[in-house]
Amino acid sequence: MFKLIESIFSALNKYFLLFLLVLVTKSSSDSLPCDQRSYGQGSYVCVCNSTYCDRVESNVPIPKGRYTVYTSNKDGYRLHKTYGQFNSTPSTTNKGIFTINKNVTYQTMIGFGGAFTDAAGINIASLSTEAQENLLKSYYSPEGIEYTVGRIPMASCDFSTHPYSYDDHPGDFMLQNFSLAVEDLKYKIPYIIAAQKMNKRNLTLFGSPWSAPAWMKDNQNMTGKGSLIGQPGGKYYKTWAQYFVRFLQEYSKHGIDLWGITAQNEPSDGKLPNFKFQAMGWTAAQQRDFIALDLGPALEKNGFQYIKLMILDDARFLLPYWAEQVFSSPEASKYISGIAVHWYEDFITPTIALSSTHQKFPDKFILATEACAGSILPFGKVILGSWERAESYAHDILQDVNNWVTGWTDWNIALDMEGGPNWVKNFVDSPIIVNAKKDEFYKQPMFYAMGHFSKFVLPGSKRIDIRGSEVDGLQISAFLQGDNSIVVVILNRSENDGIISLHDPELGYINLSYSKHSIQTVIWWT
Ligand SMILES: *[C@@H]1O[C@H](CO)[C@@H](O)[C@H](O)[C@H]1NC(C)=O
Ligand SMILES: *[C@@H]1O[C@H](CO)[C@@H](O)[C@H](O)[C@H]1NC(C)=O
Ligand SMILES: *[C@@H]1O[C@H](CO)[C@@H](O)[C@H](O)[C@H]1NC(C)=O
Ligand SMILES: *[C@@H]1O[C@H](CO)[C@@H](O)[C@H](O)[C@H]1NC(C)=O
Ligand SMILES: *[C@@H]1O[C@H](CO)[C@@H](O)[C@H](O)[C@H]1NC(C)=O
Ligand SMILES: *[C@@H]1O[C@H](CO)[C@@H](O)[C@H](O)[C@H]1NC(C)=O
Repeated sequence: MFKLIESIFSALNKYFLLFLLVLVTKSSSDSLPCDQRSYGQGSYVCVCNSTYCDRVESNVPIPKGRYTVYTSNKDGYRLHKTYGQFNSTPSTTNKGIFTINKNVTYQTMIGFGGAFTDAAGINIASLSTEAQENLLKSYYSPEGIEYTVGRIPMASCDFSTHPYSYDDHPGDFMLQNFSLAVEDLKYKIPYIIAAQKMNKRNLTLFGSPWSAPAWMKDNQNMTGKGSLIGQPGGKYYKTWAQYFVRFLQEYSKHGIDLWGITAQNEPSDGKLPNFKFQAMGWTAAQQRDFIALDLGPALEKNGFQYIKLMILDDARFLLPYWAEQVFSSPEASKYISGIAVHWYEDFITPTIALSSTHQKFPDKFILATEACAGSILPFGKVILGSWERAESYAHDILQDVNNWVTGWTDWNIALDMEGGPNWVKNFVDSPIIVNAKKDEFYKQPMFYAMGHFSKFVLPGSKRIDIRGSEVDGLQISAFLQGDNSIVVVILNRSENDGIISLHDPELGYINLSYSKHSIQTVIWWT
């Protein structure tokens, strides 16, 4: 009798799998392959235009005991989807077994994304409407990599065509002439709204200022070495705090409600003589006092107490020092939610800067708020098809998230063939490069590296423990999603292929072969 029931069940199970296969085959029609083009840089870009753009196959739930793998590598794949089945034993040829433990959770993730700069908007606007749609869908829609985080420069930065602020009227302490710039109205707001509309998820948006208006500064200039005139608590500081409030209010009037702000982009830049683009210098103590006396109270008084205020917004080598200075004041600390970090000096700064900061201030999140390739001379600015740059993104993200960082924000979401526009010619690379002349854009390997995280590691998910033997520098991280799925991201930067086993004590072993120079995202439901 039991045997009979068992065989009926097993037959049903087979039909279920068949049914699933049909579903899966059907749903695979939602993907479109990459139109590859090589520029002789080791790997290739995916070309999109007004009528064609590759799409990622959606990540739909599958039954317990099976798993999904998305693979990108130097040689062939871009978020290529395959399936597999758990085994009861590990692969005999594995180079390591990695075991997850859902019971050990770390930070809650905020998300992944990029910045809506003037340059990005100018480049998007240079395409035909249809190509623009394809570009924004690539980042924000379910057929793309579904970014959830967006950074908005408050007024101009180097990725603008000229310096400007929201109030260039000397002596306007009441900010009577405060107004958003034409750049906000033409190049930022419309694309943020379009991105929100096509997104199935919510966008988490934060603003960052590069400089106050020149008239508020001791050097009377938005560039170079300079700071606000006077001291925290003084009238220039009060006006500068109100400037944040006005920015939040104006964006809100356009239907864009921000989630957060950073107190200053790279406060160390404005302490450097002759710094060539918009900057404003702060010490940690000045930032602390400004928040305690001016910015915190101004946000609260104007109904923005929910805004996530972040400090630092600069290199992690300033940690934990900067956080210690700022959080030494409970008056400042009570207004602050997080610590923002930029990646530029990561290669010379051990990750202990992050983990020790987390240990000292476990209630403050750490978020990566800026990164880009091509900023260091003499290496090229834009390199079309560089797989190394995809690896450097994935490497930095994995290092960060394994040290308490809650998300990662790329810099410009789109740049031109030169890596601009940038009014001081500080050109860099971007995951999407726009070629306006041909009405085409190129999705770089970096774009897919971002996708391995942004599409699958959802806001609100928790990083969980994953342990295994050291496999030649293999980098790995695991996350538990709200729908009880597990997401594991693996980076292999070496020349070798191999097999590792992923072990879920509740389900068994995944026999995962990985190719040289690859990034994989593995997903299963528990
Ligand atoms: C867009 O790219 C596709 C795929 O390469 C090509 O077939 C099509 O002709 C291109 N469309 C335009 C308008 O160039
Ligand atoms: C794991 O995969 C390798 C290569 O695909 C295969 O040789 C091996 O038998 C597999 N092991 C198990 C336990 O499935
Ligand atoms: C995780 O917690 C559950 C429930 O408390 C327990 O049954 C299970 O054994 C734990 N697993 C591990 C790997 O510790
Ligand atoms: C605001 O701008 C107008 C027009 O430029 C100018 O006349 C006025 O003096 C400004 N007000 C302040 C307070 O700066
Ligand atoms: C988006 O935000 C709204 C308002 O906070 C919330 O009700 C909704 O559940 C969120 N949607 C998602 C997909 O998180
Ligand atoms: C600001 O400084 C730059 C660089 O020194 C200089 O070229 C520019 O003229 C200055 N602007 C003003 C308004 O003084």
